Amino acid sequence: MLPDKCPPGAVGSSRSTRRSSTNRFLFLLFFKIILCWQCCLAATPTAPSHSRYLLHNSTCPDFAPNSTNMGSKTNSECLEKISNVASLRCAFELFDANFFNNKKIPEIVKGAKEFNIPIIRANRKLVASVNGGLHNPSSLVFNPEWDNEQPQQISKRFNYPSISGTKRPESEEDIAFMSVLELGELIKTKQITSEELTHIFLQRLKRYNNVLEAVVSYTEELAYKQAKEADKLLARGLYLGPLHGIPYGLKDIISVPKFKTTWGSKTFKDQVLDIDAWVYKRLKATGAVLVAKLVSGSLAYDDIWYGGRTRNPWNIEEFSTGSSAGPAACTSAGMVPFAIGSETAGSITYPATRCGVTALRPTFGTVGRTGVMSISESLDKLGPFCRSATDCTIILDAIRGRDPDDPSSRDSPLNDPFLVDITKLTVGYLDDAEMEVVHVLASKGVNVLPFKLNYTVDSVQGILNFTMDVDMLAHFDEWQRSGQDNDYEAQDQWPTELRRARMIPAVDYVQAQRARGKLIREVRESFTVDAIIGNATDWEKVCMGNLVGMPVIVVPTGFKKIENPPSGASRRRTTITTGIYAPPHHDHIALALAMAYQSVTDHHKQRPPINDLGPNDSI
Ligand SMILES: *[C@@H]1O[C@H](CO)[C@@H](O)[C@H](O)[C@H]1NC(C)=O
Ligand SMILES: *[C@@H]1O[C@H](CO)[C@@H](O)[C@H](O)[C@H]1NC(C)=O
Ligand SMILES: *[C@@H]1O[C@H](CO)[C@@H](O)[C@H](O)[C@H]1NC(C)=O
Ligand SMILES: *[C@@H]1O[C@H](CO)[C@@H](O)[C@H](O)[C@H]1NC(C)=O
Ligand SMILES: *[C@@H]1O[C@H](CO)[C@@H](O)[C@H](O)[C@H]1NC(C)=O
Repeated sequence: MLPDKCPPGAVGSSRSTRRSSTNRFLFLLFFKIILCWQCCLAATPTAPSHSRYLLHNSTCPDFAPNSTNMGSKTNSECLEKISNVASLRCAFELFDANFFNNKKIPEIVKGAKEFNIPIIRANRKLVASVNGGLHNPSSLVFNPEWDNEQPQQISKRFNYPSISGTKRPESEEDIAFMSVLELGELIKTKQITSEELTHIFLQRLKRYNNVLEAVVSYTEELAYKQAKEADKLLARGLYLGPLHGIPYGLKDIISVPKFKTTWGSKTFKDQVLDIDAWVYKRLKATGAVLVAKLVSGSLAYDDIWYGGRTRNPWNIEEFSTGSSAGPAACTSAGMVPFAIGSETAGSITYPATRCGVTALRPTFGTVGRTGVMSISESLDKLGPFCRSATDCTIILDAIRGRDPDDPSSRDSPLNDPFLVDITKLTVGYLDDAEMEVVHVLASKGVNVLPFKLNYTVDSVQGILNFTMDVDMLAHFDEWQRSGQDNDYEAQDQWPTELRRARMIPAVDYVQAQRARGKLIREVRESFTVDAIIGNATDWEKVCMGNLVGMPVIVVPTGFKKIENPPSGASRRRTTITTGIYAPPHHDHIALALAMAYQSVTDHHKQRPPINDLGPNDSI
């Protein structure tokens, strides 16, 4: 009898016609024979690496011999391994991707069955059960404009609040924890020079980096050059605005000429890209001073990088999460006044939450990405890590605008967050909102009500995985093909995910984008309030928010005791945050609400213990 389905262990329960199953049987037989010989000689599915090319020339179809018998020497275990490997090899050959060694193939089979197929089926059910494509257009839109026009300069800047009267504190520690706006005032009133500030922050970076493992490289020489330039300009009476002379850090997926841009990865640790990232150019134009390239988890995934694993300043026994690990940890520990990080899915909200800092994931497209490592063109976003929502507003104002080389970026029609009348806003709070924020905003005249986002798309997390993984693989195709993924710092992260991404058919990627389009429409219809308060790290919301492209600001709301604290006192804490979400291009609403909350609370001003953990706490 002819087998009516794929061999055991391969993709399950496909319905096939008798004719195609005959063909499949024939060529599988052929591969079983080849591989059986190979497998049983090697007696292990982990064949030496040269053997991965053994089948290169034996293309799959057409010529399968039909007369060979399987031989009685083969045992069934061997046969099963072989049939898995063989069928996948055959498929990969048709993808022009037959480069995985025999050890990886079973892992890919498992991943495809466990992760890919459920997502394929869920999206197919959502958008592909009717033919003709009249409904559910893809969220990826083609734009035929020949976009050569000059970027429009956003002339209208926000109206920053005046904080005149700020006095320079005695201690450097107190200076290090001032807000950007306050530091700007010290510089403007010549109570401190940019050079002095640069020195303070470089010292702190070096002192605490031993513990936090949060810095990839110091840009010391450049920093002093930029600082002196800022001081000179001011001496000539030229003040560029609140970022004039203010030190900051960039996540190390953002390139700056002459310095390494390592993407956090061992493979790229010596890479120098001669590109002025657009966001770096914008900050340079405001007079800000780059002091360090900060840790990105390897290839912007999690907090593990080639030099170690970034720690949480609030509890140095714990890690920062990622992948904007360095920006979060360094801002939290007063090592930089602010930093630029990025998010594809959770890389701003997670580390900001863990390290207890205020951070904004802006509306998709608000900040240009030229010179920034790509994971996904339709998901990647840059955003600021700060010590207050006011600072986030100022940084956003400096870096927003259309980048002519990033087709997804645009001049966001953003109103001035400082001019929002919050008493005119209606804010919905979700089940998992931090209620203190809700109460505070209500007391300030915001109309608050319990709320639930209502959408029927049930494969949100799957859509995110397909989009992110396929897009990432497209950008790191050569890396995977050449086996460089074997050197990746955490094998269960990108390498595993991207190997099974090789098995996602293009048609199902497009179905995922159609399902995403449906999600976006449903969320838009359901978002009947001005903003939503809810958990910033709940994975479903992280996926939904990023797929829709909506902004969220992470707001620290307090602390709780660490789990299993040492006997006696410890100053280590677990930070609590919440997220304020707004519809796309309504970042000003989220920022205004966060500023209102922070104007009467001080959770965001607390300083983490790093070298003073408290009595009896030596870790
Ligand atoms: C067989 O594969 C090798 C390695 O990919 C290639 O160099 C060679 O040209 C192929 N031979 C034929 C006949 O296709
Ligand atoms: C193998 O296939 C050829 C061509 O289709 C056919 O002539 C031959 O009889 C087949 N042999 C067996 C053993 O089925
Ligand atoms: C949620 O969606 C369902 C189905 O579309 C609808 O019946 C229900 O009224 C919606 N609820 C709200 C609060 O919008
Ligand atoms: C998405 O990928 C992550 C990481 O591999 C995995 O943990 C998660 O279960 C996946 N989600 C779905 C719905 O497949
Ligand atoms: C928010 O979500 C994270 C991740 O799922 C969870 O650990 C945390 O407890 C949640 N917080 C609240 C208040 O529900």
